[in-house]
Amino acid sequence: MTMSTIFTLLLFLLCVFFLLVKRRRSSQRLPPGSLGFPLIGQSLCLLRAMRANTAERWLEERVRKYGPISKLSLFGKPTVFIYGQAANKFLFTSSTIGNQQVHSVKMILGERNLLELSGEDHKRVRSAIVSFLKPECLKQYVGKMDEEIGKHLQMHWEGKQEVKVLPLMKTLTFNLICSLLFGLEHGARRDQFVEYFQEMIEGMWSIPVNLPFTRYNRSLQASAKVQKMVTALIRDKRVELEQKGTSSNQDLITCLLSLRKEDNKEVMSENEIVHNIMLVMVAGHDTSSIVITFFVQILANNSTVYAAVLQEQEEIAKSKSPGELLTWEDLSKMKYSWRVAMETMRMFPPIFGGFRKTLKDIEYGGYLIPKGWQVFWAANMTHMDTSIFQEPTKFKPARFENQASIPPYCFVAFGGGPRICPGYEFARIETLVTIHYLVTRFSWKLCCNDNFFSRDPTPVPTQGLPIKIMSKKLL
Ligand code: HEM
Ligand SMILES: *[C@@H]1O[C@H](CO)[C@@H](O)[C@H](O)[C@H]1NC(C)=O
Ligand SMILES: *[C@@H]1O[C@H](CO)[C@@H](O)[C@H](O)[C@H]1NC(C)=O
Ligand SMILES: *[C@@H]1O[C@H](CO)[C@@H](O)[C@H](O)[C@H]1NC(C)=O
Ligand SMILES: *[C@@H]1O[C@H](CO)[C@@H](O)[C@H](O)[C@H]1NC(C)=O
Repeated sequence: MTMSTIFTLLLFLLCVFFLLVKRRRSSQRLPPGSLGFPLIGQSLCLLRAMRANTAERWLEERVRKYGPISKLSLFGKPTVFIYGQAANKFLFTSSTIGNQQVHSVKMILGERNLLELSGEDHKRVRSAIVSFLKPECLKQYVGKMDEEIGKHLQMHWEGKQEVKVLPLMKTLTFNLICSLLFGLEHGARRDQFVEYFQEMIEGMWSIPVNLPFTRYNRSLQASAKVQKMVTALIRDKRVELEQKGTSSNQDLITCLLSLRKEDNKEVMSENEIVHNIMLVMVAGHDTSSIVITFFVQILANNSTVYAAVLQEQEEIAKSKSPGELLTWEDLSKMKYSWRVAMETMRMFPPIFGGFRKTLKDIEYGGYLIPKGWQVFWAANMTHMDTSIFQEPTKFKPARFENQASIPPYCFVAFGGGPRICPGYEFARIETLVTIHYLVTRFSWKLCCNDNFFSRDPTPVPTQGLPIKIMSKKLL
């Protein structure tokens, strides 16, 4: 047979296949909506709306036009958008739904990162990461975090009159991750790391066109450099572990390296460790920094909230002798402050939403979602639902007084189900310790009062939230 007959035959088979598939599917309806242009689809519209902070309005308009379930095309894939409590429960827990990130995320972080794994692989790698991030383990690190935050304030806040909160909080959370999770202390290596890392995250959510002038291409290049540095760091940690006998709980990397199965084989391959360190770096840095930044903004904007947080934190400060580090027990007394953080995340969820994919043809809400399609969720659409959160545009930390009163899958800033964020406790510790020192040592005023922010894709307040600060006399 010649090439061309093979080709014709293939084409014919393909046509028959599609006709069959189409016949089967036409009995069920696809959700309304248009798929737009292939590849680019509505991604550019969504990214633009995010930058202008009108992404919710954009989604709300879809809902008005097409109803609660609609199809569109995002980042090169046909996608169905759903929202609300039932939708969240379905996509976070259904066994017919698998995980899938946009293609750019997979290529930048590496294909063995937790977000790409499923089934037993996901369970194994997740429990390895959780063995370090669980409260029983993290509680020993409150003091270490306290020291790192103290260093940061001394270097970047004390003696200053004006600071930009967001960039500083990004520096701080990155440093916390480096020191606690990677065991990488201050120095030239760390500075180089930060630089590549910044370049890398710029193209995290981008259209995967790999041409020399695209954001995506620049991110891939930076990702290769970061992966190289992480690999070198892991090899150093391995040497320390094997030759110097460092404690396996020293940092996340050492912990992952020392985990063994029954047959004494390593639980995670080196590739898996690299890709998951990449993930933790991104997941833990661009999220808590935003929570702390919006927390600072709310304290400046709302005197009721400020007074209550200050009172709670001063009470704790008074119970300590000068220079004494905060402990796990101190954090458990910061109940009101954490409610403020939760309410901040309800109104300003750092993660806009995410993607899953269907593992087979699924019937949902009377529509067909074909196998292999993306399913897209957006946190704010649930957080602003009046049937769940009364007066959703009002800032009311009291909603979280009785956490059991909030139905499941309604507060989804950390996601839900078996893939709920394992960094919750880490984020709670860094947020509370930082807020403790900020309110007890400084007072501040916003420099610009327009309360505007854009999403890129994480929320960024105008100019990174510049504030005027004044040092308080130490108690
Ligand atoms: C306030 C801070 C944080 C927020 C709002 C947040 C939010 C989220 C969300 C929404 C997801 C789920 C994504 C999905 O289901 O598609 C997630 C997953 C994840 N987060 Fe966080 N996160 C935060 C902090 C952290 C920190 C500090 C770390 C690490 C130290 C971390 C590590 C991870 C990891 C590894 C996953 C993947 C889990 C899996 O797929 O099983 N996060 N996070
Ligand atoms: C960036 O684009 C150039 C030109 O298409 C290509 O040769 C290069 O491999 C790309 N970089 C990465 C990291 O993919
Ligand atoms: C708080 O924000 C609201 C809405 O943006 C604004 O009207 C108000 O003036 C702000 N209050 C303070 C004390 O900054
Ligand atoms: C959430 O949605 C509301 C209203 O739809 C909007 O005003 C607010 O800016 C959104 N918040 C974020 C963080 O996107
Ligand atoms: C400030 O917070 C209080 C307490 O949650 C709330 O009742 C009030 O509406 C808030 N004020 C503004 C301007 O957001």
